[in-house]
Amino acid sequence: MHDERWDRLTRAADVLRSRLEVSPAVAITLGSGLSDGFGVPTGGTRIPCGEIPGFPVPTVAGHSGEFWSGRIGRVPVLLQRGRVHFYEGRTMEEVTFATRLFALLGVKTLIVTNASGAIRPDLHAGDLVLITDHINMLAANPLYGPNLDPLGPRFPDMSAAYTPRLRTLAREAAAAEKIDLKEGVYVATLGPSYETPAEIRAFRAMGADLVGMSTVPEVIAAAHAGMEVLGISLATNLAAGVDPNAALSHDEVIETTKRKGAEMRRLLLSILSRLSQ
Ligand code: HPA
Repeated sequence: MHDERWDRLTRAADVLRSRLEVSPAVAITLGSGLSDGFGVPTGGTRIPCGEIPGFPVPTVAGHSGEFWSGRIGRVPVLLQRGRVHFYEGRTMEEVTFATRLFALLGVKTLIVTNASGAIRPDLHAGDLVLITDHINMLAANPLYGPNLDPLGPRFPDMSAAYTPRLRTLAREAAAAEKIDLKEGVYVATLGPSYETPAEIRAFRAMGADLVGMSTVPEVIAAAHAGMEVLGISLATNLAAGVDPNAALSHDEVIETTKRKGAEMRRLLLSILSRLSQ
């Protein structure tokens, strides 16, 4: 079956592949502000998103919109610095374009990071949290519409979307780095407004520990394409109403990201070094 979405992907993959330093085994999607915290590793190649045909270039401040290809330690890595969000008015095809490119390039492991609001009372602003599962409240799914059969099945299993083996590895990496890695379920909302306290109480009753506006589409697309996924969230603030006296601001999200970006980086590097063992 001819499908224009597949044509767009294969065209972009051909260009990106020709620019890569090494064939990537692992892709890392760096969320809000976390690109700056991670920085650009030495060596390797930078590829601006705008140079890849059909690629949706991020518009949000703090998302630079480029790939970096190279080795981190022994692992051939493709870094995605900056992502696009559904709230920007992008289609699900655009939101998951990079993730599917990774699949076409042969990436087996996707590491996704994000910033989130902490719903569960024992979580704090600044906590790093291993995502154990998600709840999709976006009212949209990247697999809606005709299935892209070359990528994966019509009805993909999501019962272990956040790969248990990688979660174990992340716990070991955190312990070795003496990083207190919490765990939790992530709920994705459309945004861009933050949630109301009543919504946060509802999400808590549903079993959510963290709330954010990204990640879920990418993880669904990755699971569909048969990739293993590891999700790490930085809780940048308490979710709305958790502290009844506090207001939410993007400034707090940015500030916490700056403060804790280096710790996220240290954890990711430790995870990468274990992946290559
Ligand atoms: N809600 C939604 N998205 C977020 C939050 C939040 O509290 N913090 C960072 N991203």
